[in-house]
Amino acid sequence: MNSFTFKNPTKLIFGKGSLDQLSAEAAGLGKKLLLVYGGGSIKRNGLYDSVLNHLRSSGADVFELAGVEPNPRLSTVKRGIELCREHDIEGLVAVGGGSVIDCTKAIAVGARYDGDVWDIITRRVAASAALPFGTVLTLAATGSEMNSGSVITNWETQEKIGWGSPYTYPQFSILDPEFTYSVPKDQTIYGICDIMSHVFEHYFNHTPNIPVQDGMCETILRTVITAAPKLLNDLQSYEHRETILYCGTMALNGMINMGVRGDWATHNIEHAVSAVYDIPHGGGLAILFPNWMKHVLDENVLRFKQMAVNVFGINPDGQDDRTVALQGIEALRSFWTSIGAPSRLADYGIDDAKLELMADKASAGGPFGNFKKLSREDVLDIYRASL
Ligand code: NZQ
Ligand code: ZN
Repeated sequence: MNSFTFKNPTKLIFGKGSLDQLSAEAAGLGKKLLLVYGGGSIKRNGLYDSVLNHLRSSGADVFELAGVEPNPRLSTVKRGIELCREHDIEGLVAVGGGSVIDCTKAIAVGARYDGDVWDIITRRVAASAALPFGTVLTLAATGSEMNSGSVITNWETQEKIGWGSPYTYPQFSILDPEFTYSVPKDQTIYGICDIMSHVFEHYFNHTPNIPVQDGMCETILRTVITAAPKLLNDLQSYEHRETILYCGTMALNGMINMGVRGDWATHNIEHAVSAVYDIPHGGGLAILFPNWMKHVLDENVLRFKQMAVNVFGINPDGQDDRTVALQGIEALRSFWTSIGAPSRLADYGIDDAKLELMADKASAGGPFGNFKKLSREDVLDIYRASL
């Protein structure tokens, strides 16, 4: 494996009743707090009232930023920064999915930076400070609750950019599987695809001697594959919500990929699609990932065979490696289709009109991806295969 240093400072508070710890945790953020949330799901399921009570009982004055969009916008980040300045906000509490948390991360650094926060998001300037923040997660998908990543969309320029800094780890994250009961079926499916995709981004690498990391990746994938159909048949199942929630955090909190150089090309290719068409991230990944796999298969056929055998249980006896590897990719496509994930860009009404534009955006920084370096032409091939 590669040499590595691992540090994840987020305090993870997981399980039924864990919101009871919010008052004590929020007290560590300051006396003037900004509560950040999305389009209203937390008002409909009652979480908003509980969170507000806990925050007030911590003795804090609470201000609010509502209406963070899925694929959160730079304009909303800027609104949040203005609120922080106007009210001398000392800390933030994000209540929602990855979009709300990602937006909160950008507000947290933007409030402690004199220039335009877009400088930091585009990595022209490194963040040097941030307001402290905690999260209450309501959707299993991104892992943003326990990582330093954030993805922000500049709708004017149609750019969707992933960034992060050592200052953007949540101080704490509260995860109660019951808060995810109200996630609708489609968002539950997108979350499942996103979680599996994060594992794939780690799993397809050329790093030698990573048996433990491989085993953890394969365990998460098999666990999701087993739990997902059961959860989708019973969205109120505590057991399956709990399993998927835990998988989501573990897939992208750095624990399973220590010493591994993952790929991340497919995320880049997807971000270009949702920058232009504003589609759900997990849905985009479900369409693109199997096509990326076929495109890069020959970089390391045995790696794909390993996935086929260890994750999808394909029997390799009497078959050549490439055939087994391809069966694994088909098994992934079949699994995602079986749970109701999209499989073609056409499922979102996307045709070939803007493929060139999306390929420009995906490859704006030059060739990318670590398993195979992708050129703009490679990206176009993958988009065309996904139509
Ligand atoms: O806005 P509200 O009303 O809250 O509704 C949301 C939203 O419409 C709803 N929802 C969330 N929790 C709910 C709920 N509805 C009912 N009950 C609940 N308990 O679900 C919708 C989608 O929410 P969103 O936060 O957008 O979903 P997700 O968590 O999948 O986040 C997606 C964003 O995260 C980025 C994606 O690119 C996308 O912008 N990513 C962030 C990453 C990171 N920070 O590490 C990594 C990922 O790869 C990803 O790129
Ligand atoms: Zn993702």
